[in-house]
Amino acid sequence: VNATAVACANIALVKYWGKRDEALNLPARGSLSVTLDALETRTTVTFDAERPADVLVVDGIERAGAALARAARVLDLLRARAGVGAEGPRALVTSANTFPYGAGLASSASGMAALVTAGAAALGLDLDPAERSVLARRGSGSAARSIHGGFVEWRAGERPDGADSVGVPLHPAAHWELRVVVAVVAAAGEKAVPSTEGMRHTAATSPYQPAWLAAVDTDLVAARAALAARDLAALGAVAERSALRMHAAMLAADPALLYWRGATVEALHTVRALRARDGLAAWATIDAGPHVKVLTTPADAPAVAARLAAVPGVERVVASRIGGPARVEANAAAERPTEVTS
Ligand code: PMV
Repeated sequence: VNATAVACANIALVKYWGKRDEALNLPARGSLSVTLDALETRTTVTFDAERPADVLVVDGIERAGAALARAARVLDLLRARAGVGAEGPRALVTSANTFPYGAGLASSASGMAALVTAGAAALGLDLDPAERSVLARRGSGSAARSIHGGFVEWRAGERPDGADSVGVPLHPAAHWELRVVVAVVAAAGEKAVPSTEGMRHTAATSPYQPAWLAAVDTDLVAARAALAARDLAALGAVAERSALRMHAAMLAADPALLYWRGATVEALHTVRALRARDGLAAWATIDAGPHVKVLTTPADAPAVAARLAAVPGVERVVASRIGGPARVEANAAAERPTEVTS
């Protein structure tokens, strides 16, 4: 009754910021991402009839509150799907990340994709990727994309029940050898506003939210075409403007949602200079946090990484390849004893 799965984080090139249904995590528009193989979550789920409640351990620390509630919600959906219902066995979920948890580096996407994939396997459920994408989406919207590898579109869907709001693989990782250089920015002070709350606040108070949403479908068309043609300048331009328009909508909320630090802006200037002055391939994107992720080529990645590492306030840089799909690890659970049991 246990299984282990691995899933990669993803970074959206056409962003998701706005829900049409908060309970089901249905997005107002589609989005499009690349999977990052350097940012990985490995999760073991062990169901146990004797266990009184679900327990979540991430990177050796037992988690409570919102993180546990979110995992339990997904486990409930899996138990219902397996027909064991509300009285079904509770789970010990043990998760380890290759990158800092909860630091705005998409740990919820890889975490939820790994949880659904491991949990389904542990319950003996044979779910196809679309079904797992729907379940992962209920834990975290962007997790719908982390079920697949390579280049992924999350279709907004039309159905009220969300059955067609799923991640769809556009191209496998092998389609295009790109790199994403992640500049991790030190975030001093207050905790970032979580994405659900940030989206609700932007939709309720930002006069720019309708304009932001109106631009997404055009960006999706442009991004799909750039991907198919392997046109990095076109794809990079879409990615950078999608991120900056999303942040413009956040900044126009009342009060403003400001996820950037000084180093975020300096990194943006560095990326623009790398392009304009040095002729390197470099396009930036930023999620609901201070970090800057830069789309580049394998040839230019070392120079891009070195320049970003020199930006004051950038703590470290990680260069990632394009990652693969979420997968069950054969027999890994047996070799990997859980570190914390309560
Ligand atoms: O998956 P969530 O609910 O944490 O939302 C992710 C939102 C962004 O990272 C800002 C954009 C995206 O498309 O991933």
